[in-house]
Amino acid sequence: MALFSRLFGGGAQAPSQVRVLPADIGFAVGPKQTVLQAALDQGYAYPHNCRVGSCGTCKTRLVSGQVRELTDKSYLLSDEEMAAGVILACQSVPKGDLVLENFGLIAGGPRHDVVATEARIAALDRQTGDIMRLTLDLAEPVAYTAGQYAELARGSEPARQFSFIDAPDEGGTRRARFFIRRVPGGELTSWLFDAARPGDRLALRAPFGDFFLRPSTAPILAIAGGSGLGPVLALLEQARRDRVSRDATLMFGVRSEADLYALDAIAALARGWIAQFRFVPVLSAEPDGSGWAGARGFIHAHLGAMEPVALASSHAYLCGPPAMIDAAIPVLNGAGIGRADIRYDAFTDRSVLAAVA
Ligand code: FES
Repeated sequence: MALFSRLFGGGAQAPSQVRVLPADIGFAVGPKQTVLQAALDQGYAYPHNCRVGSCGTCKTRLVSGQVRELTDKSYLLSDEEMAAGVILACQSVPKGDLVLENFGLIAGGPRHDVVATEARIAALDRQTGDIMRLTLDLAEPVAYTAGQYAELARGSEPARQFSFIDAPDEGGTRRARFFIRRVPGGELTSWLFDAARPGDRLALRAPFGDFFLRPSTAPILAIAGGSGLGPVLALLEQARRDRVSRDATLMFGVRSEADLYALDAIAALARGWIAQFRFVPVLSAEPDGSGWAGARGFIHAHLGAMEPVALASSHAYLCGPPAMIDAAIPVLNGAGIGRADIRYDAFTDRSVLAAVA
């Protein structure tokens, strides 16, 4: 009963049983939970991003059963999707047992116990004017897959999500690092930049997320913007450790040369990569005449300069602001990379999570 209460928040009503095809993964959903909340709490890498019904990443087909929907989904779905019974897992509370279809939830994908633990700040290292590297010592080890994220909270304030920037340690990570971008008006990030000191405490819950490197021999095209570099570095570092022999291109978009960071980590990756590794920094607002001889503008405009056959055969991993991802995906599609070979983690504001009344 203790485990039941922890997962489903108590109450007398029995949980619903949910099966997700074609992976044939089953889990229970508590009476006041959405399908997505339950899947994440039980460690499944259910495809999602915003968690608030605005991105469409958690689209799922309702094969049988009924759900109560927390928000109107019609503006996100096409007429065909509505007719096919597509729902948003982050906005759907089961009214009984369900069978669902979601091709993004794969059998054998990462599944780790979600750990809630105390985290003490070990270091705060400024990387650029608005990016900080936060190092936390965790009271309990956390197992995760490179590319996943943690929720961090201070006191009773709402949790915010940040991606691990390192590949995990064997047996669970006890020292975790994150790149934090200062969010104007953001309570947690303002505190981290202006007031936090080593020794201060946070609460951490992890892991979550379905941004991880899929097995393949295809070249890797990694595209990062701003603090989105973190999970991309983690994913590539894991591949380097695993001696993955796929050619890799890392495109890193920031505003100016002063905004580039983690260049030593990228150089170490390139040195240790056993196939070809190409690093392409792209600056969108570097002043004319600054002496910068590299790429300028936005990343999507530079994708066309890649060798077309290599681009078409790549699998793409994107992490950064939604505008960067929205601009890049049509270009990747146009170059011949199918939707299933494009994975992304858009840094939308996931702070206002759906409330289930
Ligand atoms: S719409 Fe459900 S995760 Fe974004």
